[in-house]
Amino acid sequence: MREELKKLETEALKEIEASSNDREALEAIRVKYLGRKGALTDIFKKIGTVSPSEKPEIGRLINIVKENVSKTLDAKSEAISKRSVKLDGVDVTLPGVAHKTGHLHPVTRTINEISDIFISLGFRVIEGPEIETEYYNFEALNIPLEHPSRDAFDTFYLKTEKEKYLLRSHTSPVQARFMEENSPPFAIIVPGRVYRPDATDASHSFMFHQIEGLVVGKDIKFSDLKGVLTIFSKQMFGSDTKMRFRPSFFPFTEPSAEVDVSCIICKGEGHCSVCGDKRWLEILGAGMVNPKVFKAVGYDPEKYTGFAFGMGVERIAMLKYGVNDIRLFYENDVRFLEQF
Ligand code: DAH
Repeated sequence: MREELKKLETEALKEIEASSNDREALEAIRVKYLGRKGALTDIFKKIGTVSPSEKPEIGRLINIVKENVSKTLDAKSEAISKRSVKLDGVDVTLPGVAHKTGHLHPVTRTINEISDIFISLGFRVIEGPEIETEYYNFEALNIPLEHPSRDAFDTFYLKTEKEKYLLRSHTSPVQARFMEENSPPFAIIVPGRVYRPDATDASHSFMFHQIEGLVVGKDIKFSDLKGVLTIFSKQMFGSDTKMRFRPSFFPFTEPSAEVDVSCIICKGEGHCSVCGDKRWLEILGAGMVNPKVFKAVGYDPEKYTGFAFGMGVERIAMLKYGVNDIRLFYENDVRFLEQF
């Protein structure tokens, strides 16, 4: 009986070991040995034939063998479960890797935000070339030959044979380009990159973004400019934002103004490093289109009037989001970019 048991055990373990990796084969082995009509159950029934003195010992042995076979079956079954999720070396039970979705750059977001405000006021968005001719960047805008901005220190000139090409130093040339091709009335904004050979520091970059605005029609007045910019500043910086115009000079507008908004950081109270306790922040230049600019594009200055404005996108983004270094926008450090 002992030998029979030993033989059964060895056979069972061999079969388990040799069983292919499928559960059905394993289940068949379980039934064959441990089932109600299984070999080990059968042998238990024969225990009556054993001498009474040996009975307890044989009973114990049968139980040990049953347990051993049962445990080996369980272990094999577990191994199969593990293997079945490891397909071709890929463990499909591992937690998934979340994909990070990107988002718009803060400069792009600011351009979109500003554009949306003007679009809601009826403006169209227009673009123009970043490589410009001297004519559009300066002449058409009434910027005289002796103007300092025409100096090579203030503008990136390209080495070309004939016409002088340069990287536009502002978005204003698109004013002239658009007017040559279109008739009033119209209202446009022009977002885009501009270039100046400035030494880079916390507030200067050789490349930055501007948004130009131009409205031309009959009877366009300075008060229209004020109205449009008031709506813009309140929507952009909050409804309690105040605005002021300071007289200024630009060759392409007359009269010209620099426009400030009430400091959005300190709101007029306490020490403020952003406005330097001046309580005002300059955000853009503006004015009524100079009749000389109209003449350059073939418009009759007696018939049409218009206003224009230009603002720096990074400067507005810095004020709005409290960023104190313009270089952060271009370094592509995700720890910075992720915050927007
Ligand atoms: N082009 C000017 C600059 O880059 C900004 C500007 C000022 C644009 C007044 C305008 C304007 O259209 O009317 O500094």
